[in-house]
Amino acid sequence: FGSLAAKVERNPSFSTLNADDISYFKGVLGEKTVVQEEERLAIANTDWMHKYKGSSKLLLQPQSTEEVSQILKYCNSRCLAVVPQGGNTGLVGGSVPVFDEVIINMSLMNNIISFDQVSGILVCEAGCILENLMTFLDNQGFIMPLDLGAKGSCQIGGNVSTNAGGLRLVRYGSLHGNVLGIEAVLADGNVIDMLGTLRKDNTGYDLKHLFIGSEGSLGIVTKVSILTPPKLFSVNVAFLACQDYFSCQKLLVEAKRKLGEILSAFEFLDSQSLDLVLNHLDGIRNPLPPTMHNFYVLIETTGSDETYDRQKLEAFLLHAMEAGLVSDGALAQDINQASSFWRIREGVPEALMKAGAVYKYDLSLPVEKMYDLVEEMRKRLSDSANIIGYGHLGDGNLHLNISAPQYDDRILMQIEPFVYEWTSKHRGSISAEHGLGLMKANEIFYSKPTDTVTLMASIKKMLDPKGILNPYKVLPHSFSSS
Ligand code: FAD
Ligand code: MLT
Ligand code: ZN
Repeated sequence: FGSLAAKVERNPSFSTLNADDISYFKGVLGEKTVVQEEERLAIANTDWMHKYKGSSKLLLQPQSTEEVSQILKYCNSRCLAVVPQGGNTGLVGGSVPVFDEVIINMSLMNNIISFDQVSGILVCEAGCILENLMTFLDNQGFIMPLDLGAKGSCQIGGNVSTNAGGLRLVRYGSLHGNVLGIEAVLADGNVIDMLGTLRKDNTGYDLKHLFIGSEGSLGIVTKVSILTPPKLFSVNVAFLACQDYFSCQKLLVEAKRKLGEILSAFEFLDSQSLDLVLNHLDGIRNPLPPTMHNFYVLIETTGSDETYDRQKLEAFLLHAMEAGLVSDGALAQDINQASSFWRIREGVPEALMKAGAVYKYDLSLPVEKMYDLVEEMRKRLSDSANIIGYGHLGDGNLHLNISAPQYDDRILMQIEPFVYEWTSKHRGSISAEHGLGLMKANEIFYSKPTDTVTLMASIKKMLDPKGILNPYKVLPHSFSSS
């Protein structure tokens, strides 16, 4: 039910776990961190959406890089497949086993190693939860360069491995820019130390980039060094209504021009997304009077001068109202109201889960074309599903979600491959930020030429010759089984 692409056979070259394997792992890790209890396995075998389910019989919780290294060395020699797992908030079926892969859960590697107050460079273990890092930095007067709705559960190692985008990318850029170093363990157990803490280092190939966004298919990320921006105290959030999509677009262009250096988020949602949040999540209310608007935009500014920033934003909003780009709006009066505006936008994925089955698409598209796809989908599916569009408009990233009472192959066949073909025709990407995982491994060709995929497969072969690391994910199945 997940995706047309999700049908895959177990690779027969992988071994099956036996009693000697369990004894070995207990010898290396100790009894407590070798988990075989059914209840805990059931949780780890299932993804956040409850859409992908594996049947792993073993979850390992290493506490150091050395332990990760010993686990992988052994699994590689025995040809046991593994799946690295962080907070298990991934949305493409990448973080759970497909069959009986051993789950390597990173949550016990959660130490902060160092923080440099002068440069703002944080070095920590991969299992640190994003929100804990945010709290730590807040006390130091810094912030993480990324923020996302899953911050309470996702881990920095998972963020790096998916190259997570999120709500601040428009201001601070992607993890390819902010991650300064990585320590990773390869399939054969070799530890690769790329844990630099330098802004500039042009000594040959910058191999850490291979691990950013490779979704656990090339190695297990064990440590990360990351550049964190200083915390600026003047933060303003506005929740605005627009009558049509064209006005959202024009508002974006104006915001970039007129808010310039203080713009820190530009998110949008359509009225169907807002309705879903209001109907399914408790304690959320529409900050605007209940007039029918078609689109909503959340703008955040972050700067260092309260008076100047507020004036700048107010002047921008006045101008946008006068130009007819904004039909109504509210400017948060305090931090609580600001977080209630954010809760609306961040609550969309959770509301979708409560509404029933969801088909999720995460697309990069030219901004002017983006919403055409949502409208086309509405025509294709008529009344059989609720089609909603939201996302990171400032980054050209649409989240197209199709919500239905239950999974139904007839709906899926109306969506795929149409969505991918449409995206490819408009030179977009079929994964802006969530990755390919299991869901889109076979669809990679919609966004990458065959020669590029072939090169990816040869890099995979070189780093993981037996293919034990997160099999069936990222690369198309025809490439990874050869
Ligand atoms: P997991 O889900 O556990 O794993 C994700 C992938 O990374 C898997 O392939 C896994 O094998 C691999 N992996 C995990 N840890 C490691 C490691 N240490 N070494 C090697 N491989 C590893 N994503 C965005 O980009 N932007 C968003 O705004 C956003 N918002 C979200 C909001 C909600 C409510 C939810 C549920 C998800 C959201 N996501 C978003 C998707 C998800 O949170 C991100 O992909 C996140 O970065 C995954 O982190 P994780 O620790 O949960 O990783
Ligand atoms: C978001 O921006 O809310 C996330 O990427 C999750 C989603 O797409 O549902
Ligand atoms: Zn997103």
